[in-house]
Amino acid sequence: MKRVVAGNWKMNHGPAAARDYLARFRPPTGEGTARVLLFPPTVSLAAAVAAADGVPGVEIGVQDVNEAASGAFTGETSPVMAREAGATLTLVGHSERRQLYGEDDARVAAKVEAAFAAGLTPVVCVGETLEERRQGRLREVLLRQLDAVLEVLDPGSSWLLAYEPVWAIGTGETATPEDASEAHGILRRRLDAAGLDTGAIPILYGGSVKPANARELMSAPDVDGVLVGGASLDPEDFAAIAEAGTV
Ligand code: 13P
Repeated sequence: MKRVVAGNWKMNHGPAAARDYLARFRPPTGEGTARVLLFPPTVSLAAAVAAADGVPGVEIGVQDVNEAASGAFTGETSPVMAREAGATLTLVGHSERRQLYGEDDARVAAKVEAAFAAGLTPVVCVGETLEERRQGRLREVLLRQLDAVLEVLDPGSSWLLAYEPVWAIGTGETATPEDASEAHGILRRRLDAAGLDTGAIPILYGGSVKPANARELMSAPDVDGVLVGGASLDPEDFAAIAEAGTV
């Protein structure tokens, strides 16, 4: 499987910074290079889409969508409008959405449905907190989050999954390749049991991925790519991570 290297800028890089970034970003091209995805903030979407035109192979997505196509939802992003503005993907259920904005599994599932309806490819994020991990609830939490989404999925649909342990996000504490493989294995087996073509659903690892650890993480069994926060903010660092994803 072609690897996937995704950058989530979170609430960083306005339109001017997005243009500047994409003018400097030189991801590797050619045989075996990773699929490269970038998730700018919504206010920078149009600038990023226009600037990405000059960077072969970069796909642009949004970081979240509302479950409705339009309506009285002040401050929210419509998946239909994001698609119209040039996004082709969306993150759904990022732990910051779940933790800071109270998104539960039902809401995440509704957003996944709305993304598909709008023609956006969802990148569904799952992951346990440190407390849940310490309580030995890794498997239970991951499967609860995944199952909510599997209920609303058409079996043939194209989507991606990201395992982001909450304790490794923005903390500098990276899961070991063994930790990542264990969690990805749990997810992969569930996809398999649900009768899905697991070879067509990339599972990305996210949490303090850097140029220095990206290659090792992506070499771990069942890790098909990475979802990078902080280290995706610098175009050279992110290009180095994309390079590490070459097979
Ligand atoms: P960091 O790479 O900054 O830990 O963030 C990971 C993340 O949340 C990507 O979505």
